[in-house]
Amino acid sequence: MLTIFETIKHIAIKIDHEIKTEDLGYSDSSNSSGEDQLKLDVKSDYIIEEAFKNISIVKSLVSEEKEGVLELHENGKYTICYDPLDGSSLADVNLSVGSIFGIYQGELKGENLVASAYVVYGPRIELVTAIKGSKPKHYRAQEGLFNFIDEITLDEKGNINAPGGTQQNWCEYHKTFVDDLFSEGYRLRYSGGMVPDLHQILLKGGGIFSYPATSDKPYGKLRQLFEVIPFAFIYEQAGGQALNDKGMRLMELEPSHPHDTSPCFLGSNYEITQLRDAYGMKN
Ligand code: AHG
Ligand code: MN
Ligand code: MN
Repeated sequence: MLTIFETIKHIAIKIDHEIKTEDLGYSDSSNSSGEDQLKLDVKSDYIIEEAFKNISIVKSLVSEEKEGVLELHENGKYTICYDPLDGSSLADVNLSVGSIFGIYQGELKGENLVASAYVVYGPRIELVTAIKGSKPKHYRAQEGLFNFIDEITLDEKGNINAPGGTQQNWCEYHKTFVDDLFSEGYRLRYSGGMVPDLHQILLKGGGIFSYPATSDKPYGKLRQLFEVIPFAFIYEQAGGQALNDKGMRLMELEPSHPHDTSPCFLGSNYEITQLRDAYGMKN
């Protein structure tokens, strides 16, 4: 796993360089979710593919920017599912973006995720890694090297509310849930990039990020294998919880297609309890 995390560090430095220098316009192609690809999405995907081509323990890759599974090494152990550049449409307004990696062993489903990592490209480059049985680890890059900062532990209750999706398309009980948190004093912190939004909650002690089922996106927007499950793992390892809209742990998701999405709620324990009440989920 160390080799994979080391490779992700090299990838992060390269992608950060592209973000700072590459043309911010669209390419002439679209991805499997029907979204137009930016040149930055395509370039970041290429950087990641090239980096893992040299790592023999990596069996295959699944990317937000590729249709199917890319086989790399027949005798490899892991499949890496990744979003090369999450929030890429925010790059042209100079907001933070990120890369997300889920490392799976065996069939591609939540319970087979063995490690995950994400990179935040903001004023600094930061990396969070997580493996089973220990707290997520937070690193910050300085002159190309990643220095360990601390382990991440979520508080039981936070004060950040990051509600995703178009409000017009929320259902009544979701709206009530979000409004009730604001009435309790929660602060709105939402950039539209799940990586910095979830990163902020993790580092500022707690709160909740939601991307619910909406009337226009009944299965949510965020993709299970390379957005939802890797972050669910990190939230659970940090002492928080991560559920879908039926109260099921996101780590129990079993996608039937690599690009399947899921409504998602990730947060600290208090906010998840409030969610269960508002949604009428069993405890
Ligand atoms: P991507 O840029 O990889 O397509 O994903 C962006 C995601 C996520 O970062 C964010 O939380 C969500 O899309 C926001 O979506 P909407 O702007 O559609 O609400
Ligand atoms: Mn994404
Ligand atoms: Mn993306």
